[in-house]
Amino acid sequence: MKTNPWTLSVLLLLAGPLGADPDWHVEYPDSFCVVEGSTATIPCSFTLPAGRRVERVVWCTNDEFCRRLVFNVYDSSSVRAYRRFRYLGDRVGNCTLKIIKTVKRDTAMYRFLFQANGRGYPGRIGVIVKVTDGEDVKVRSSITDHVVKEGGQVTLTCTSACSFHQLDVHWYRNGHALSETGPALHLSNLTNNNTGNYTCSLDSSGQKTSAPWSLLVGEDEGRFGWRLTVSVVLKVLWAVFLLLLAGLVFAKRSAPGPEHETVYSEVVG
Ligand SMILES: *[C@@H]1O[C@H](CO)[C@@H](O)[C@H](O)[C@H]1NC(C)=O
Ligand SMILES: *[C@@H]1O[C@H](CO)[C@@H](O)[C@H](O)[C@H]1NC(C)=O
Repeated sequence: MKTNPWTLSVLLLLAGPLGADPDWHVEYPDSFCVVEGSTATIPCSFTLPAGRRVERVVWCTNDEFCRRLVFNVYDSSSVRAYRRFRYLGDRVGNCTLKIIKTVKRDTAMYRFLFQANGRGYPGRIGVIVKVTDGEDVKVRSSITDHVVKEGGQVTLTCTSACSFHQLDVHWYRNGHALSETGPALHLSNLTNNNTGNYTCSLDSSGQKTSAPWSLLVGEDEGRFGWRLTVSVVLKVLWAVFLLLLAGLVFAKRSAPGPEHETVYSEVVG
């Protein structure tokens, strides 16, 4: 009697976790985050005992056993192909899947299954692919303040709900592209020229751009501090002088005569 391979795979799953068998194994990340519009390459590998021939490979969504024949995003035995889903793998051990120009509705639980000797071997509970919009792209800085003194340094990082594997990060100051790329922008030896609004974006087209982060490069703290001290001392001296003058005038008006000498000498002494 010929048994349906899908029934067999269900029985196999019920018998025990597949992942426990090192001969039959699918390896992929638990979750994978991607920003809408960019391309995701989900790494995947599988193993099977030597000498077995893989007849079919399938990537499906939201289905534990990839039984649905219509909604598989990739099926080597189907003529139907989705242009945005490319199977970069092979039938030997690589099951990498590429999703081109991801859209929100690609968010799903993805599962890989390979079929050998008439049996289907699904990977464990699959990759949770999360497609987020670019709105949560943020600039974070190594400092709490937005003010840095001349000659100082600051590191800005571009963050989002997704980690930035395989993503281009571009940086801008006041809307003009900077030559630096990558998730971190390190600015050192700061001068007033570095003052401005910094943004980062996740693709070269400038879409998925963060809110601006403003940097103000102030005067050197040392020089500033010295000036502050001088100005405070001058103000105090000026106040003392005015008080002295007021005292003299008051003494002269209210107590003319011999008493005046006393007050005067008190103030001076
Ligand atoms: C699987 O194939 C992809 C695409 O060709 C490649 O980038 C990746 O390095 C391969 N993985 C392994 C483990 O060989
Ligand atoms: C930076 O942004 C702030 C607030 O949005 C704005 O007031 C300021 O003019 C901007 N500076 C530059 C150089 O664009």
